[in-house]
Amino acid sequence: MGGSQSDATAPVDLAIIIPTFNERANLVPLLERLRNTLQGIRWEAIFVDDDSPDGTATLARSLSLGDTRVRVIQRIGRRGLASACIEGMLSTAARYMAIMDADLQHDESILPRMYERITADRLDLVVGSRNVEGGSMGEFAKQRVRLSSLGSRLSRMVCKCDLSDPMSGFFIVTREFFEEVVYRLSGVGFKILVDMVASAQRPVRFAEVPYTFRNRERGESKLDINVGLEYLQLILDKVIGGIVPTRFVLFSLVGAIGVVVHLAVLGLLYYAAGMVFAIAQGAATLIAMTFNFVLNNITTFRDRRLRGSRLIAGLFRYYVACLIGAIANLGFATFLLRAGLPWYVAGFVGLAVSSVWNYGVNMIFTWKRGVSAIEQRRQANAKLSAYARDMGENR
Ligand code: GDD
Ligand code: MN
Repeated sequence: MGGSQSDATAPVDLAIIIPTFNERANLVPLLERLRNTLQGIRWEAIFVDDDSPDGTATLARSLSLGDTRVRVIQRIGRRGLASACIEGMLSTAARYMAIMDADLQHDESILPRMYERITADRLDLVVGSRNVEGGSMGEFAKQRVRLSSLGSRLSRMVCKCDLSDPMSGFFIVTREFFEEVVYRLSGVGFKILVDMVASAQRPVRFAEVPYTFRNRERGESKLDINVGLEYLQLILDKVIGGIVPTRFVLFSLVGAIGVVVHLAVLGLLYYAAGMVFAIAQGAATLIAMTFNFVLNNITTFRDRRLRGSRLIAGLFRYYVACLIGAIANLGFATFLLRAGLPWYVAGFVGLAVSSVWNYGVNMIFTWKRGVSAIEQRRQANAKLSAYARDMGENR
């Protein structure tokens, strides 16, 4: 290895795609380990960073000045582990691509063995597994182990092959296999391996190499309740995704829960408390609508979640949009009933029209993409870059 002419123009054998969010403290130790373990392989490391506030991307770029095998993709206004991996894979010409976390939890020392297997056995995929002989979850918290095995069981609904550790985020794929599935990927959430395997339309040729999952020493895990929701969304998307957009399915599910809330409140006010029907019905509508707004804000539109004053403004937009939707519903249903259609068809079409309306209008007006958060990030980055430039000039 080194700086000879032929090396500089030779193609990369293995690209290591490393999604990052606030992993600044891990970059240097990770690269050190990769350099040691990958001797004899022509590799590159591609950090795909979602504009981490801690300046991960800026640090990665400055490391790239000392080692051109280090590359950076900085995504602005976006979040997501799986989609970051997809963009990383699209950005390289390497024939083999490894996906690996930045936090040193994945044991990089098995990379050469994984690479050897995928090249020698003409496989599509080699997975670093914690659940085969010789591998282990390490000191992973009991709850997390249980969550992981629940996720694995769920994945069996959509995966066509029997991976021992489908929740693994540590694997090597061939470019051919990636290109075969890329147009069908959902790209939602954390589980890119499940996404890829579930998107294959033929049996996947794979092998597994055991490793022990390490503890995270620096930085924090990004796993939270959203990651769980996103995983359910991925599974849902794989089951019904080709037919209807998953976000719309979530929106409709929330709507269905809203109906239950509505009926419960109505029962309480009218039946149990003896209120006038019109008032009880009005109150139930308002409560159910507010409930739906909050739930949609947490689930359906969690990636655009409204907070503070924007939450209040959004709630009023939501009321107005739903009110217009309800009028459209009524109009359509009455028209169809008068035209001679049975009441249940008229009722259903009215509901469908207002659901699609509510979904579309609220997506555009209520949960529109914010600008101010991005502007804040831009200014913070400008400061970091200026600082990095100063450091470079003073070297
Ligand atoms: N670009 C980007 N965007 N990277 C992200 C994001 C994001 O929104 N969220 C997390 N990452 C990066 C982290 O910086 C880290 O390098 C890696 O993805 C894993 O994130 P962690 O926060 O460390 O997740 P974890 O340890 O709870 O879960 C991981 O462990 C699983 C094993 O159970 C996931 O990576 C799984 O894929 C992995 O197999
Ligand atoms: Mn981790």
